[in-house]
Amino acid sequence: MIAIHLLLASASVLRGARADSLSLHTGEALVNNIVVPKEISNFAKDGASAQWASGYPKEWGSENYHYQFNEPDPEDSFSAGITPDEKYLAMNNGTHITFINLEKNTTASTLALVMPKKILALSLTLRHAPQGGYDVFASGSNGGKNGITTATVRIRVSSNLTAIGNFSTYQGGIGAISKQGRLASLSGYIYDMEGTDTPIATLTDRPDLTDLSFSPDGIHLASVSWRARTADLWNATSGQKIYQFPATNAQNWVTRFSPDGRYLAIAVGSNNNTIQLYTLGNLTAPPTEMKVFNGWPRALDWSPDSKTLAVADENRLRIFNVPSGEVIQTWEVEGVRYGPSPSGVSFLAEGKRLTWTFLYGTYLYEFETNTKWYWVPRAIDHIWGGMGFSFLSKTNVAVTHDGDSTVRFWKI
Ligand SMILES: *[C@@H]1O[C@H](CO)[C@@H](O)[C@H](O)[C@H]1NC(C)=O
Ligand SMILES: *[C@@H]1O[C@H](CO)[C@@H](O)[C@H](O)[C@H]1NC(C)=O
Ligand SMILES: *[C@@H]1O[C@H](CO)[C@@H](O)[C@H](O)[C@H]1NC(C)=O
Ligand SMILES: *[C@@H]1O[C@H](CO)[C@@H](O)[C@H](O)[C@H]1NC(C)=O
Ligand SMILES: *[C@@H]1O[C@H](CO)[C@@H](O)[C@H](O)[C@H]1NC(C)=O
Ligand SMILES: *[C@@H]1O[C@H](CO)[C@@H](O)[C@H](O)[C@H]1NC(C)=O
Ligand SMILES: *[C@@H]1O[C@H](CO)[C@@H](O)[C@H](O)[C@H]1NC(C)=O
Repeated sequence: MIAIHLLLASASVLRGARADSLSLHTGEALVNNIVVPKEISNFAKDGASAQWASGYPKEWGSENYHYQFNEPDPEDSFSAGITPDEKYLAMNNGTHITFINLEKNTTASTLALVMPKKILALSLTLRHAPQGGYDVFASGSNGGKNGITTATVRIRVSSNLTAIGNFSTYQGGIGAISKQGRLASLSGYIYDMEGTDTPIATLTDRPDLTDLSFSPDGIHLASVSWRARTADLWNATSGQKIYQFPATNAQNWVTRFSPDGRYLAIAVGSNNNTIQLYTLGNLTAPPTEMKVFNGWPRALDWSPDSKTLAVADENRLRIFNVPSGEVIQTWEVEGVRYGPSPSGVSFLAEGKRLTWTFLYGTYLYEFETNTKWYWVPRAIDHIWGGMGFSFLSKTNVAVTHDGDSTVRFWKI
């Protein structure tokens, strides 16, 4: 995740060099007069390629409506989110979070963030608070956009968006948040969000952490380390190490429990480029391995039924069957070697749809209808980082969180 932020942040250059000529570069195609990455594999299902949804691909500026927090500036920080009940849009400009009531089209409230050492808040995470209302998390670093996340704050707001109590401060970025209300930070602390701001546990003898995942029952915590090249399983209450997975001797990027809690996926990088699938019920059994990646598998997501795994590597996104490891569908572009990997890979709508971001554009794919959507900045726009995506299932609206401090709404 850090690497992707770096890539996007350092790429804030004008895309408009070719705006007047619209000459295509290698690996680009023109659809609807819009430049899209040239696909060499298109999620084809039973021999049928995915089709563009009517009117797609689309460019920024053709959205149904949008909200903007501040005047866009390539150097600013921006992140956004939608509350799980789809009522509010939240936008974070680094020092403040503003909430828009999407039904009434009004600003519901604006909160000033209380960050330690006045660090800029680069990310925004929202969840339902157990007693109603929302928990709002913001993380940032004192090294600015390219720094390692050093702190996370949380403020609980009531359902009318007034703050309840004070800001909580947690050390490190968010590694994982459990359904049971615990937060594990990338600095190795476990916090109980119904308790005090003192960690309930510290991971003992921990390596540098790259990613964390709670088991669905909240009992276990899995970790991987890029630097230490390890993968471990921890007791999420005591912080004690329960199991150290056999050495991968490789830079590990991501780990995720399956939603049914049966499997743990570990993305092994370096030149091994493997997904290992361990069975929680028998950790000593050799893992199922998915191999032959173009590069490091950097992003993955489980379908909600735990039957498939979407994994991104260079220029490609594939859907694997679990537990056989067989490839079911492939999306791949004609990229360059060491090309970018899709990020933001996420199943939506009970697994009926999948979203990902590749380079500057955001994709949505619908399995049942074999249809795809794509939103991209115009050639005259800067390349902005910090993209994200939400889907309003009640109103069938796709929402792109775009780096120009704008959140765009697209009725589909
Ligand atoms: C964020 O927005 C608030 C409210 O409009 C403004 O006061 C503040 O200066 C902005 N912060 C940054 C970093 O631009
Ligand atoms: C929200 O209100 C603004 C005026 O304040 C208007 O320009 C905009 O079109 C409205 N958006 C929606 C989605 O109704
Ligand atoms: C908002 O909710 C809080 C807590 O539920 C309550 O105390 C407060 O009066 C409410 N404010 C408004 C303006 O409704
Ligand atoms: C919030 O912080 C203030 C000032 O530090 C303190 O006096 C107060 O007790 C805190 N309130 C809660 C609910 O923790
Ligand atoms: C985790 O640690 C707690 C507290 O020490 C203990 O009660 C619990 O049995 C442990 N759980 C596992 C799965 O080891
Ligand atoms: C990864 O590659 C390294 C170096 O070639 C090797 O030592 C290690 O065993 C491999 N790991 C796996 C899981 O294959
Ligand atoms: C765990 O896996 C190992 C290796 O495949 C096997 O020998 C063992 O019987 C399994 N244990 C259980 C409880 O299934």
